[in-house]
Amino acid sequence: MTQIGSFQSWCLGVTLPLMLAAVLHQGFAAVAPPTTTPPTTTPTTAAPHKDPGRPERGTYQVASSNGTVCLKASMGLQLNVTYVSQNKPVQDIVNLQPNETKSSGSCGSDSASLQLTDAGKTNLTFFFTLNTTTNKYHLSEVFLSASWPDMKETFSAHNRSLDYLRGTLGNSYVCRMEQTLNVTQNFSINIFQVQVQPFGLTGDKFGAAEECQLDEDDMLIPIIVGAALAGLVIIVLLAYLIGRKRSHAGYQTI
Ligand SMILES: *[C@@H]1O[C@H](CO)[C@@H](O)[C@H](O)[C@H]1NC(C)=O
Ligand SMILES: *[C@@H]1O[C@H](CO)[C@@H](O)[C@H](O)[C@H]1NC(C)=O
Ligand SMILES: *[C@@H]1O[C@H](CO)[C@@H](O)[C@H](O)[C@H]1NC(C)=O
Ligand SMILES: *[C@@H]1O[C@H](CO)[C@@H](O)[C@H](O)[C@H]1NC(C)=O
Ligand SMILES: *[C@@H]1O[C@H](CO)[C@@H](O)[C@H](O)[C@H]1NC(C)=O
Ligand SMILES: *[C@@H]1O[C@H](CO)[C@@H](O)[C@H](O)[C@H]1NC(C)=O
Ligand SMILES: *[C@@H]1O[C@H](CO)[C@@H](O)[C@H](O)[C@H]1NC(C)=O
Ligand SMILES: *[C@@H]1O[C@H](CO)[C@@H](O)[C@H](O)[C@H]1NC(C)=O
Repeated sequence: MTQIGSFQSWCLGVTLPLMLAAVLHQGFAAVAPPTTTPPTTTPTTAAPHKDPGRPERGTYQVASSNGTVCLKASMGLQLNVTYVSQNKPVQDIVNLQPNETKSSGSCGSDSASLQLTDAGKTNLTFFFTLNTTTNKYHLSEVFLSASWPDMKETFSAHNRSLDYLRGTLGNSYVCRMEQTLNVTQNFSINIFQVQVQPFGLTGDKFGAAEECQLDEDDMLIPIIVGAALAGLVIIVLLAYLIGRKRSHAGYQTI
């Protein structure tokens, strides 16, 4: 009887931490993405503008002249633009709607571009560079021109010395966490759930994923919690085995 009882409590002792681990992990997975979005919308200098929420994820690709896909990107894009209207700085947060965005671009041996256009209101171009000695690529240049409803004149921003989305030739760059790419003082891009590969695709498939640092840091928490719980399980197991051995010894002496 006591054997069965202690077995039951042992089972409880093992399943409880496991259930806890599952719940905690789900909690982390569910909580992690939303916490990154809402607190960022606190316009200080600019006039308040509606929060467009999380952008939808779109898949865009560029084909070379013989029809093979040479650049592919899946991502949600949110543009953060500050411009002057009636002598006041205005901050606009605009999501790119994938269903209203057309992609084009070009691919060379060491450079590739992706141009996204939505009905002539926004032109956003990404330029990627491949270093052929190290076989590493990165986002090196971004160009934006936008003429949105409350703008008096077209806004444009251009930076040719960027170093974002770094990956290795043949691999794709992946980041599940939201990332902010500062382009100029008045223009940044919030990029969500990005997977991009500007060079070395096979067919139209992404190569092996290279996870960004943000994701690796984020993964560390569940790993540490999991390791701690595994340690707990081992301690409970050892305690049970030792306890069982002792009670066996007890029976034999009687
Ligand atoms: C937009 O950019 C401004 C200035 O860099 C920043 O203060 C604000 O938090 C950004 N907003 C979002 C939603 O990224
Ligand atoms: C298409 O052109 C690219 C270079 O632009 C080349 O790497 C690839 O092998 C070509 N594919 C075919 C099917 O000719
Ligand atoms: C694109 O999708 C949004 C909602 O996701 C919808 O409101 C809009 O009408 C769609 N536009 C087109 C051109 O289909
Ligand atoms: C490629 O990378 C190496 C090492 O970082 C650097 O010395 C070289 O200038 C780079 N080449 C180009 C074309 O950027
Ligand atoms: C975007 O580019 C197209 C063609 O390149 C052009 O007709 C349009 O005026 C541009 N729009 C903006 C806002 O720059
Ligand atoms: C981007 O700019 C914001 C403010 O403009 C700054 O707080 C942030 O550290 C910058 N991020 C990077 C990666 O430079
Ligand atoms: C372009 O980006 C670099 C690196 O983020 C930054 O140091 C530089 O100030 C930017 N140039 C302009 C014109 O904003
Ligand atoms: C950037 O925005 C500030 C106001 O926040 C404005 O004074 C400045 O002229 C803008 N710069 C550019 C290049 O648009």
